[in-house]
Amino acid sequence: MGDPSAPLGRRSRAAPILEARGLRKSFGPTVALAEVSLSLLEGEILGILGPSGSGKSTLLLCLAGILPPDGGDVWFRDRSLCSLSDAARSSLRRREFGFVFQLGQLLPELTGEENVALPLLLGGAGRRKARSSARALLEELGVLDVADKRPGEMSAGQGQRVAVARALVGQPAVIFADEPTGALDSRNARQVMDLLVGAAHARGTAILLVTHDGDVASRADRRILLRDGRIAGGEA
Ligand SMILES: Nc1ncnc2c1ncn2[C@@H]1O[C@H](COP(=O)(O)OP(=O)(O)O)[C@@H](O)[C@H]1O
Ligand SMILES: [Mg+2]
Repeated sequence: MGDPSAPLGRRSRAAPILEARGLRKSFGPTVALAEVSLSLLEGEILGILGPSGSGKSTLLLCLAGILPPDGGDVWFRDRSLCSLSDAARSSLRRREFGFVFQLGQLLPELTGEENVALPLLLGGAGRRKARSSARALLEELGVLDVADKRPGEMSAGQGQRVAVARALVGQPAVIFADEPTGALDSRNARQVMDLLVGAAHARGTAILLVTHDGDVASRADRRILLRDGRIAGGEA
């Protein structure tokens, strides 16, 4: 079967974990998603590329069950997200999904450690367990020194590392990353991508990686190009 370490070898054995089937979404007269179908495979990093306004963030929000599509459906494993109740969808999102956005996702009044521990506490974990998991991840990502600082006292790069720790802490099946390095300089962007990609591959976590940056997209196992709300290229 060829080199077992090759991405294709890994992909050919993986099953889809998340699928968009004929997704459509408009905002008034603006068609954000015209008709999008794609699969994210178990443990795969899938890059969604496209110019500003091409529908990338809308696609991410629909796939994460945050934004209801006008048509089509999203499947997570064997479940249709659109047919779940709001409560069941929120609960699935909390257990199975992690999120990294460009900026401003940390709660300003909480410390780094508290920000990372929060998803575990909301999921019912004990304080001691949440705290030790949070600190272990901050250490793995090289930012244990900001555990007791608030986001306002962190650099942009430190803040994004804390955000990556928070996305990973619940051991999600899928991480949704929307321009995760969009606010960083190129050196910090590269380091944060190294950490995110390394941690995800080590854990078998899939990533839906939305970006308009070719360098960032080059870190994905596979890429899809969106244009005007349609797949215009790549390996869907
Ligand atoms: N909440 C919204 N209300 C109105 N229009 C929106 C909204 N969100 C997105 N759009 C429009 O939908 C299109 C796709 O947007 P978006 O998914 O944010 O693209 P991208 O992330 O690729 O820049 C754009 O024309 C945008 O202006
Ligand atoms: Mg966007």
